[in-house]
Amino acid sequence: MMRESLDTFISPVQRASIRASIAEARTLPRQAFTSEAFFALEQERIFNTQWLALCFAQQLPQPGCLLPLEFAGIPLLVVHGDDGKLRVFHNIVPYDGCLAVIGTPADVPSDITTPYHGWRYDLRGKLIAIPFWDGNAQGDLAALRGRCGDLVEIPSQTELGILFINLNGKADPFDVAIQPLRHILSDYRTDDLAIGQDEDGQPLIDTSENLATNWKTHYENWAINVLHEGFTHEIYAESPQIPRVNTTGEKTYVEHMDGSLMALSYRERDFAETYELDEVPFTHLGIDPEHLPEHAYIGSLFPNLHFAAFPYFIHFIIALPVSAGQTLTLRAQLYDAASAANPDYLEERLGILADFQQAGQEDGRITEAVQKARRSPAFEQQFYAPFWDRMHYNFSNQVLDVLENTDKE
Ligand SMILES: [Fe+2]
Repeated sequence: MMRESLDTFISPVQRASIRASIAEARTLPRQAFTSEAFFALEQERIFNTQWLALCFAQQLPQPGCLLPLEFAGIPLLVVHGDDGKLRVFHNIVPYDGCLAVIGTPADVPSDITTPYHGWRYDLRGKLIAIPFWDGNAQGDLAALRGRCGDLVEIPSQTELGILFINLNGKADPFDVAIQPLRHILSDYRTDDLAIGQDEDGQPLIDTSENLATNWKTHYENWAINVLHEGFTHEIYAESPQIPRVNTTGEKTYVEHMDGSLMALSYRERDFAETYELDEVPFTHLGIDPEHLPEHAYIGSLFPNLHFAAFPYFIHFIIALPVSAGQTLTLRAQLYDAASAANPDYLEERLGILADFQQAGQEDGRITEAVQKARRSPAFEQQFYAPFWDRMHYNFSNQVLDVLENTDKE
C-alpha cells in the first residue's frame, strides 16, 4: 500500500528513467517539486528519518535561551539548558495542545512558563508546576496520575556549531551520518570556529532568505550544479577559470560523492584569480599553521546542509523546507574564533557576508525561476549533461533511494 503512494507521484516508468544511465536518464518528475502531497511524503520518509541541520548553536548563546522554530511545519523548541546542553523538544504541551513557547522571549528566563495554562518546565524540559490544574493554587503533580507532562525530546547533536536533529530517533548513528563531512574537512581546523561578529559582538547570521522554491531545487543549485556559475554569478562572469574546464576539455575540479555528501573541490592556487582570497587578514584554517588548506570545497550534506570551505572561513547554509514551494535558509560564516571576534576585521567580515548575499540573490532568482517553470505541463522531467551533471544525477537517485527504502518499513 505504501508502495502505491510513491507510485502516485513517480510512476514505475519514471522511476526506471531516473535509474537509467546518465546519458539516458531523466530527473525527478515535476510533481516531486510542486506537489504538497509529495512534500508530505518527503516529510514522513526523508525529514523524519535523516539527521537534519536545524539551527546554529550560537543562536542560543546562554542558558535559558529559547528558540521556537519549525521544520517542514513541525513545531520545535530549542532550549539552552542550565547544564549548558542544547536540547530540542516538540513544541507542544501534553495537556492543552498549545505551543509551549510562542515567540523568542526578550529576556532569558530561568524556566519555561507556557502561554495557555501556565504550566512550568525547567530548562531540561521537565514539568515542574501545574498551578490550579487540580483546583489548588499549588497544583499537585500527582494529580496527573502517572501521565507524563514533560516536553517530548528529540535526539540532537551539535557539530561544527550546527545543531542537528533526528525526528523519528531511528536514523543511523550521528557519527556515521556526519563522517563524510568530517572527512572532507580533515585538512581544516574545525575545533575552534565561531560565527563572525557584527559591530555589537553578535553573530552575523543571515535569516533573510525566504525562497519561493522547493528544497531540492535549492539543493540542486548550490554545489552540485557546476556549470551554472559563470552564467548566474557576477563574480564568475569575468573569470577565465570559470566554467571549470580547461582548453583540452578536462575538468579543473574534482567531484566527491561519499554517501550523504557531495562536493566539488579545487586547488586554491588554480583559482586565485577568481576568488582573490589572499588579501584577507584572518587566521587561516589549515591544520598545519605553516600552510593554508590546499583545497577548497563547495558541497552539500543530505538532506539540508550546504557549505563552502575556503582557507579563511567556512560558509554554511541550513535549508529549512517550509512547503513544496518555499524554503527558508540560515546562513553564516565560521572563522577562526579570534578572527571572528576581532573588531579590526569587521569590514572584511561584512564584505564576505555581502558577497554571499549577492550570490544568494543571484541563485535565488534562478531557483525561483526553476520552481515557476516546473508548473509548465510541457515537460514532466528534465535530462542531464553527462559531462557536468553526475552529482545532480546522483542526488535524484539518492532522493529516490530514501523514498523507496522507507517504503519497505
Ligand atoms: Fe550559484
